[in-house]
Amino acid sequence: MGGLGGCGGGSCCAEDGGRFGPGLYGDDERAELPAGARRAALGCGVPTEVADLREGEVVLDLGSGGGIDVILSARRVGPTGLALGLDMTDEMLALAQANAREAGVRNVIFLKGVIESIPLPAASVDVVISNCVLNLSTDKGAALAEVARVLRPGGRVAISDVVAEDGLPPAERAARGSYAGCIAGALSTSEYVAGMEAAGLEEISVQPTHEVADGMHAAVVRARKPAAGATAAPRSGPVARRREAAERALPLAPASRRGCC
Ligand SMILES: C[S@@+](CC[C@H](N)C(=O)[O-])C[C@H]1O[C@@H](n2cnc3c(N)ncnc32)[C@H](O)[C@@H]1O
Repeated sequence: MGGLGGCGGGSCCAEDGGRFGPGLYGDDERAELPAGARRAALGCGVPTEVADLREGEVVLDLGSGGGIDVILSARRVGPTGLALGLDMTDEMLALAQANAREAGVRNVIFLKGVIESIPLPAASVDVVISNCVLNLSTDKGAALAEVARVLRPGGRVAISDVVAEDGLPPAERAARGSYAGCIAGALSTSEYVAGMEAAGLEEISVQPTHEVADGMHAAVVRARKPAAGATAAPRSGPVARRREAAERALPLAPASRRGCC
């Protein structure tokens, strides 16, 4: 079950001293984007910079918001590739569609749904990207299991997200910012790694990029789905079993937590 929309005071991952938002993108990237897409940026990194996208690939952006990373991905994978954006709110999907139209990219599809139950078949995507959305999920185990399910064998993950230093307990994370502000719901580095391992992913790395609160950082999280024939036992197996394992590895979200934007 996904987090709910809303974003209360409008502070969701908002531009804040350069730690979130459009200022993280370089001049070259900004030049590729319509003003509306730049303005709508609410992320904490630039996943397309680290995803090493290639012509012809299928890319999925989880929580695509105003579409900034979908538009950049569409340009990277070219007309033989496809960039998919998944978001749970009609407002963001409409904004992303308008921005993609203005950018003139045609190899994009925006889907309505939640990252905890991705409306795509298994093994249908080469690369999963996301920008500051996993921390908002109220069921991160389900979301990571879905990432593993939709990736083709050998497919890769390049996610920007907020991550807490190991040893900073959930109460301390919540003291540093709100859930909707992309702080309180952040996993620690080792929780992220454990969740991804439990989902059946490998070659996992979490690389901090900049501090967003005391003891909390924006980070690039990379992983890969084992290639066909590779054994990832005991973590491989039915999706339900991997989901249960991921949920055991991750802290439970209080029912009051809310996603945003
Ligand atoms: C912080 S904004 C980031 C948007 C975009 N990735 C960016 O970098 O600008 C979070 C986005 O994720 C969406 N979102 C939050 N939780 C979600 C969920 N569980 N499933 C799908 N979308 C979700 C929100 O609607 C919003 O558009």
